[in-house]
Formats: sequence, structure tokens, C-alpha cells
Amino acid sequence: MKKILLIGNGAREHAIAETLQRSEAVEIFAVGKTKNPGIFGLLGGGEYLMKDVCDADAIRELAIRVKPDFAVVGPEAPIAAGIVDMLLDLGVHSASPLQTVGRLESSKAFTRDLVEKYGIPGNPEYKVFYDENGLAEFFEKLGGEYVVKADGLKGGKGVKVSGDHLNGVAEGIAYAKECLADCGRVVIEEKFVGQEFSLMSFCDGVNTAEMPCVQDHKRAYEGDKGPNTGGMGTYSDANHSLPFLKTSDVEEAADITRKVAAALLKETGCEFKGVMYGGFIAVKNGVRLIEYNARFGDPEAMNVLSTLKTNFVDVCEAIIRGEMKGMKVEFENKATVCKYLVPNGYPDNAVKGVKIEIGNLPAGVKAYYASVDAREDGLYLAGSRAVAMIGMGSDIAEAEKLAEEGAAAVKGPVFYRKDIGTKALIDERVEMMKGLRG
Ligand code: GLY
Repeated sequence: MKKILLIGNGAREHAIAETLQRSEAVEIFAVGKTKNPGIFGLLGGGEYLMKDVCDADAIRELAIRVKPDFAVVGPEAPIAAGIVDMLLDLGVHSASPLQTVGRLESSKAFTRDLVEKYGIPGNPEYKVFYDENGLAEFFEKLGGEYVVKADGLKGGKGVKVSGDHLNGVAEGIAYAKECLADCGRVVIEEKFVGQEFSLMSFCDGVNTAEMPCVQDHKRAYEGDKGPNTGGMGTYSDANHSLPFLKTSDVEEAADITRKVAAALLKETGCEFKGVMYGGFIAVKNGVRLIEYNARFGDPEAMNVLSTLKTNFVDVCEAIIRGEMKGMKVEFENKATVCKYLVPNGYPDNAVKGVKIEIGNLPAGVKAYYASVDAREDGLYLAGSRAVAMIGMGSDIAEAEKLAEEGAAAVKGPVFYRKDIGTKALIDERVEMMKGLRG
């Protein structure tokens, strides 16, 4: 039986563990600071090491003792911290990228400059600043429609957009100065208008295979109001596109990812092995690139992995061996909707240490555990997104109904966005794109 080292203890990693076990019986050696009951139930004879995902000493010791066949790293922090590099030094290969190419996510400036240098389409007008010289002039040039990106991993909180989080040039400049003081570098970009979507691709360093497109919802409250979060929920469609996208949009996005993979190899001499998660936006005349992440999205992982038909262990091994050429990675023609249950007060003042109860879930609904603490007498909120409910159906409406029933079955001081995946919200987005494209 294969031994797999799984770094991470959120709902994304619960979905990864489940998909590995669904593919073939494996022993999972999981690392995470708190006990995820979902992953714990899927170890298949492996172990659960309750340590931080960036604790290199603890992970090294585990890897030396267990000698895993390969590793999968879920979150961005251990990738940026070089855990994949450390494992490779021990001879353990990962279906996750080395630190050098993980910069695709950890440095916004690196990615924008790479895309520009290799003439790949998708970049906005942008500039990287290392000091305040020329900052005000560039903001003026963008005319008050801008995006300010702190150049580092900020848990989704480093990006601020005019009209959403900041108003007017003065506020933009003030935040850019904060970023400069914090990390010595800031990226200022033109703001795009359109509909965002995630297109994740498996990559073996050269070849890529796309997963179904997914739309995430970053704002905490219904109607896309409130503070930014890690993602409150997602949906995907049975045809693997999204209702507001044209076929050419998906092709353009996939092509950008293929070109970026090639550029990364040329620029760094290092193959990107893992998941290239492109955050794209469909605009008036095509597709633009918002950013890349170097891992599965959360919640997007739950949408795509729930429908993966190909053996996931085989996919990971093909990524590691550089053998994805000609490999058909297949997904069911099913729609999915994910709704995250989050503690009251999330994201800024989330209640913690309070018990929740998950009632009976209808057939077709799956629960993935995230920031919960499994104690002897039940599940307790641990301060962030708690449980993701996934409904799967022949269309988005059916999947939404199931996800809604699943979310409503959770009792305790939690809330979720009822509007995710509803016809009303999706119609609004389709109409918005029609208006934009004429
Ligand atoms: N869905 C947002 C993220 O994974 O970063």
C-alpha cells in the first residue's frame, strides 16, 4: 500500500485525503496543528501528526521515519517556506511545487514580470514599486481605478481594490505606502471590470491538464457585501465551464497557464509540479489574469475533486514523474455548489471554542471539515471557516438545493451565504457580462 504524506488540515486537505482514498487504498500521514476529524477518519492505517504545517523539523522526522512514496502540500505557507524543497533533499518527491516556482503565488511582482517578459497575454497595466518615487503619478495615470497588492503571502488580505476597499487616489497611495513599509515592494495595477473565475490546472513541469472552472465568493455577506474572506463558497457547472463564460474564455485562460508553465521553466530552470491555480477575469474583450496560486483553491478543491474520475494517486505520480503528456484527466459531468459555514463574527471577530452540531445530511451532500476542533464530546469552532457543505447534481440548481439543505443542518453560532449558486445570483452575473460584451 502506498504511503502519502499530506501537509495541511483544512477542508481542502480533507477533500484531497478523500480523493486519494477513493482512488485506491493508501496510508495517509497527515500534518496539521489541530485534529481534522475528516482527515483522521481517512488515514487508512497512517498517522496524524499534530504540528504546524511549516514545522520543518517535525515534518523531516516524520518523513525519515515513514519514508512516504510521495507528498502533497495543501496550503501556500509551507510551499513558500520551502517544505517541498526540504522533502526533496530527503528523496521524497511532491505533487506540489518547489519554493522557486512557488513564487508564482508568493510574489505578485514575480508573476507580473514573468508574464510581461515572456509576452504572455493577460497582464493589466501595472508597475512594481520599491519606494515612493513615481507612485502618485502612476495612481493619477490609472485615474482612480486601481488595485494595490502587497507583495507577499497575506492570506488573501493583501490585495485592496478601488471602489471595494479603498476610495480615491489618496487612500490608494496611503495603502501602497503601508505595503512598502511592510514588505519593501508593492504592485499597483489597473482594475479590471468583469466576472472572476478560477481555472486550476495540473502541471508536471511541461504539460498541463485543466480542471473544471469554478467561481468563488470572497465577500462575507450575501450580495457580495462585507469584508473579504478566504472564500465563502463556490460553484461549478456540469459542462466544466460557467454560465457567463464563452468557450473561447476557457481556452484563453488555459493557454495563459500553458505559456506561464513554459516561461517558469525557462526563467528558473525549475519545473512547476503541482496545481497552477489561475485567478482569471472575463472582461469585455476576452480574459485577463488576476493572479496565480501554487496550490488547490479552498473551496475550489472541493468542487473539482468531488467530480474527479481519474485515479488521483496516478495523477500525483504523473505530475512527479513528468508523465502527464497524453494523460486524460477526467471529471464527471456534474455541477457542484459549496457553501462554507463560518463562525458568527467571521472574519474579524469570529467566535471560538463553541460547540456545533451537524445534523443528518441528505444523500448527495458531503461535509468537509476545516477549522474545527474535534473533542471527545463533539466539534468546536476553532476561529475560521468551519465546515464546507458540497452538493452535487445534474445542474447547478440541483447542487445548490443540496448544499443549502446540508448547510441548514448545522446547528450552532455559524452563518453561511444562502445566495451562492442560486439562479438569481448567477443570472445577475450572466446579465452583467452580456451588458459588458454587448
Ligand atoms: N479560493 C481562494 C483561495 O484558495 O485562495
